Amino acid sequence: MSQSPKRGKFITFEGLDGCGKSTQLEKLASVLRAEGIDVLTTREPGGTEIGERIRAVLLDSRTNGLDPMAEMALMFASRAQQLAQVIVPALEEGRWVLCDRFTDSTEAYQGGGRQLGSDAVLQLHQVLCRGLWPDLTILMDSDVEHSVKRARRRNQAASDGAQPDENRFEQESTAFFTRVQQAFRTIAQREPQRVTMVNARRPAEQGLASSGHPPACFVRFPLRALDLACASA
Ligand code: TYD
Repeated sequence: MSQSPKRGKFITFEGLDGCGKSTQLEKLASVLRAEGIDVLTTREPGGTEIGERIRAVLLDSRTNGLDPMAEMALMFASRAQQLAQVIVPALEEGRWVLCDRFTDSTEAYQGGGRQLGSDAVLQLHQVLCRGLWPDLTILMDSDVEHSVKRARRRNQAASDGAQPDENRFEQESTAFFTRVQQAFRTIAQREPQRVTMVNARRPAEQGLASSGHPPACFVRFPLRALDLACASA
C-alpha cells in the first residue's frame, strides 16, 4: 500500500514594499533545498496563469478607479485560484511552499491601508481560502520611507525596461504605508504562535534579528536557515 507523504510546510513572507522579503525568500529556499527539502516558491497576487493576469490588473498604474472592495476581491480571487491549483496540491505531496505575501497582506493593505477593516478580510479568508493559514509567517519589519523609496526605484527601473508596470501601490502616501505597517505589527502581536517579526533594517551580514518568540515546534530550523541565508548574502 502506498503511503501518503507527510504534509509539507507552508511559509509566507510579509512586509512593506521594498523591505527585501523576496530576496530573503529566495535565500531561504536555496538553504532548504541544500538540506534536501523539496521547495516550491511562489507569490501573491499571481502564481498561476489566471493569478498573473489578475496581478497585472491590480498592480498596473494605468488601472484607474478600482474600488477598494473590488481590489480586495481580486486579491482573494488570485489567492483562491493559487490555493486550489498550486499550494494545496504541493503541500499534499509533501513539498514545502514559500509564498511571497498571503492573506496578512490583504489585512494590512486593504484592511489597514484602505481602511476596510480586518473583519471583512478574515471572513473572506474563512470562506474563500477555507481557513488555511501558513505554518509560519516571517514578517520583515522595516522603515516606511526607506522601503517605499526602494520599491519605487526598483519598479520604475523595471517598467523603463521591458518589465510590466507594477507601480500602482507605490504611488500611495506615507500615511497609507504607515497604516499598512501598523496593521502588520498588530497581526504579529495577535498571532505570535504563527508570525515571527524580524528586523529587516540590519545589514545582511548580521542576519535578521528575530524580535518575537518563534513557534517552538518547527520554526527553529527555518529561522536558523534564514540566518544562514543572510550570512551568505
Ligand atoms: P509585491 O510584488 O510583493 O510587491 P513588493 O515586491 O513591492 O513588495 O506585491 C505587490 C503589491 O500588492 C504590494 O504593493 C502589496 C500589494 N498587495 C495588496 O495590497 N494586498 C494583497 O493581498 C497582496 C497579496 C498584495
